[in-house]
Amino acid sequence: MTSHMSDRLHQIRGYYSERVHPRLQGYQILSWSSREAQYGRFRVLLEILQQCFPPDYCPVLLDLGCGLAELAKFLLEHGCMVDYRGCDITEKILAEARRRTPGLQLECCDVFQAQPPYPAASFEVVYCSGIFNLELGNNDAFALRGLIRMVQLSRRLAVANFLHRRTRRKFRACHYFDPDALLAGLHQAGIPATVREDYMENDFTIVCHKPAAGNPEPPGRS
Ligand SMILES: C[S@@+](CC[C@H](N)C(=O)[O-])C[C@H]1O[C@@H](n2cnc3c(N)ncnc32)[C@H](O)[C@@H]1O
Repeated sequence: MTSHMSDRLHQIRGYYSERVHPRLQGYQILSWSSREAQYGRFRVLLEILQQCFPPDYCPVLLDLGCGLAELAKFLLEHGCMVDYRGCDITEKILAEARRRTPGLQLECCDVFQAQPPYPAASFEVVYCSGIFNLELGNNDAFALRGLIRMVQLSRRLAVANFLHRRTRRKFRACHYFDPDALLAGLHQAGIPATVREDYMENDFTIVCHKPAAGNPEPPGRS
């Protein structure tokens, strides 16, 4: 592991670990401004899953940077079946997730390390919400490499959200992204991708489709 990489993990773990408290709401621990702000992002994923898979199909979904794994409950409450797997790099957050929701498949690992902890194409959908938000110095390059890794691990879709550079009230601790720059980088890497930026002023979601070569058509609508 490079020292820049271990600094990065150290900063992220430190930030989230010290926020864990049994009496706080999940969105407060995870640094979302409100439950609506957290769920507004999840709702975009819900719509994408509903468009891409038939209602009786249960895709294997990796929630990368799952935090307290509240996405699992959100999807269940909205009648969206997934075979949910969560991973996070912050052990203290995962311990709290297991305490709040026993029985979920959660793992402590870093998907972005040189040797990924999962084989290629392990999941139909790889999703992450809020994991690129903290300003760590090289967010733009890291996010593009991260998206490419997510596509490698998926058989169908990789979906991630980012804070939008058009945001009016910016925080110094956060990084704000340019959707066009990310799309251009993905295009260069040969990854078909689209952006949704119509649901919140301060956020956008990138949807990457697994490139067709060597990718047998999975079940679904599109
Ligand atoms: C803002 S919270 C979001 C949690 C969850 N996705 C949600 O929306 O409720 C960010 C989470 O991502 C995790 N995280 C940040 N970078 C990560 C990485 N490279 N790999 C895995 N988890 C990461 C943090 O530990 C933290 O739990």
